Amino acid sequence: MGSDPKRQLLNLLEWYREAGITEYFVLGSEGGQEAVEEKREERVSCPENEELLLKVREEIGDCRRCPLWQTRTNLVFGEGNPCAKVVFVGEAPGEEEDKQGRPFVGLAGQLLTKLIEEVGWKREDVYIANVLKCRPPGNRNPKEEEIEACSPFLLKQIEAIKPKVICALGTFAAQLLLGKKLPISRIRGKVLLGWKNYRVFPTFHPAYLLRNPKQKAVALRDFEVLKEIAEGEG
Ligand code: URA
Repeated sequence: MGSDPKRQLLNLLEWYREAGITEYFVLGSEGGQEAVEEKREERVSCPENEELLLKVREEIGDCRRCPLWQTRTNLVFGEGNPCAKVVFVGEAPGEEEDKQGRPFVGLAGQLLTKLIEEVGWKREDVYIANVLKCRPPGNRNPKEEEIEACSPFLLKQIEAIKPKVICALGTFAAQLLLGKKLPISRIRGKVLLGWKNYRVFPTFHPAYLLRNPKQKAVALRDFEVLKEIAEGEG
């Protein structure tokens, strides 16, 4: 980092953005520190989770643990609320995600956002990540060795957030989190105990819903159940 304070601040903000933290509290002329602390309390009350997520991002660094680094534009770490009750896990970044360095921002992402909003959440309420952090060329399926190299970081993100429930979007996320190869059609819409006894709730991947729009109603019902699990007691 150079000594130019503006550059230093930009670098710091970029570092936060890469770790999925996109909201900051800036001291204004009115209100002062107390007002800022109060606002922070309202919006983000888990600095510990935030800190842990930053550490995971730091550990990943400029990752070259599998060959996907050679074809990526951006590594897609994940983003959202560090105190989320629900973490959505997809498969891997697509073209748009690779371009922007953000998860689920392409067409499938727009559908995911719509489903999140249809049950009364905002995208900023939840956390969104993927099994893989780099785009497989041509959006091919993730390879075993890529999942092996990359998934420990997803699991660390989950441990940092400690959500009440993990929503597995599609087969790859469900297989990883449940440790079993079960067809998504058999397990979707069910609460299952998965990795470290986290509640795993598999549902259709939004890209599948784009190809099979008749299943959107089923997916919406899944999201309603998911919300009840995330916000219910226990
Ligand atoms: N599909 C995924 O599985 N993840 C994304 O981030 C985008 C599309």
